[in-house]
Amino acid sequence: MDISEKESLFQPGQPVSPDRFKGREDIISDILKYFPAVKSGNPQHFFITGKRGIGKTSLANFTSDFARKNYSMVTAHIMNDGVHTIDELVIQIIERILNSIKSEKWSDKIFKLMDKYVESVGFGGLNIKFKPSQDELTNIKDNLAFYLSDLVSNFKDKDGLFIVIDDVNGLSHTPDFANWYKSFADTLATSIEHAPICVMLTGYPEKFKKLYTHNPSVNRIFHTHELKRLSNEDIENFYKTIFSSYNISISPDALSTMTEYSSGMPTMMQEIGDATFWKDTDRYIDNTDAINGVIEAGNRIGLKYLQPLLDNKIRSESYLSLFKKIGKKLAASPNSTFTKKEFENILNETESSVFKDFIYRAKKLGIIELSSSKKQGEYQFTNQLYPIYFLIQAVLEETD
Ligand SMILES: Nc1ncnc2c1ncn2[C@@H]1O[C@H](COP(=O)(O)OP(=O)(O)O)[C@@H](O)[C@H]1O
Ligand SMILES: [Mg+2]
Repeated sequence: MDISEKESLFQPGQPVSPDRFKGREDIISDILKYFPAVKSGNPQHFFITGKRGIGKTSLANFTSDFARKNYSMVTAHIMNDGVHTIDELVIQIIERILNSIKSEKWSDKIFKLMDKYVESVGFGGLNIKFKPSQDELTNIKDNLAFYLSDLVSNFKDKDGLFIVIDDVNGLSHTPDFANWYKSFADTLATSIEHAPICVMLTGYPEKFKKLYTHNPSVNRIFHTHELKRLSNEDIENFYKTIFSSYNISISPDALSTMTEYSSGMPTMMQEIGDATFWKDTDRYIDNTDAINGVIEAGNRIGLKYLQPLLDNKIRSESYLSLFKKIGKKLAASPNSTFTKKEFENILNETESSVFKDFIYRAKKLGIIELSSSKKQGEYQFTNQLYPIYFLIQAVLEETD
């Protein structure tokens, strides 16, 4: 195949398209079972937690796509990265909804009502900006449940609203968001008769806990799901589906190499798939292609996530060999923790003597952290891709 004709269906660094989404069947069906209730006017709230890169945005996209196609809902996806105030969030919510409905014939009426606060920008007014006065914004914020339900009642051939607020991490520092959200959810449930509205929030597990400590009602409001690693079976299915759509076949050992090094991490799965796709030249992926793909994926992970953190000191021989030994042991379950004790019999004298320094340095650079149980002397990698990266480096060194 001519390389200029090739285009990869793998999506490293992007949420997966809903049609290529794999796995998570239990969680998905647990979510979808509430959609008929939403459609008949019972609002629902979901909270998807999980570490970075585990697939929260992809799952939110998948469910919102389903709501749009099968339940005729209007969908709005708010990328909340870096939003730290409820004011900004509220503006984003309304703005995303307006952008979502702007091409519907019936939306004229809504835009006329909001004329004062709406501005079209970009080529041919392609993008709608929502610019309420401070008074109006305060009013919307305090009455969001009524405001949204008014909006939805003006949707003509649509049956509800599905809102994704992606990454509420930045809103968990103070009690404001938890308290505001509780009051929004309660008003929606008790003061509005027909509210076909569904909201899905995403964030890190510890941020959800934080919201809970601010306001314990969040446990009652949300259906919560924590995303864990994908199963090897899901990963194999993912590779088989995508490669077969190119008429590329995979040898069984290549498939298990790619799956094993993915370690259940969707990000790694996408990187390895993409890299292997480009390594293959004959539409048959053998184990050599797979191994080359894994090495390339490891290099990319290193460059993207890790190199910026590694300073000269940590690049020293003994520190790197420590990283490799730890990575090799942890890669099979990248979110597990480690202590010095577990490594004592495989460390050489130098490694043993610099261990304490090494931990201090790696912690300072944000590569490892104290385990979530906060037990003294127990550590974990801050990103589950790191141990996989070091494992690949270790294997490379051994085969040199
Ligand atoms: N269920 C899935 N099937 C296929 N690829 C996935 C799946 N979930 C996540 N991915 C891929 O993994 C990477 C991280 O996913 P993303 O949804 O951005 O994670 P998060 O929002 O938790 O940081 C992306 O490259 C995405 O394409
Ligand atoms: Mg995300």
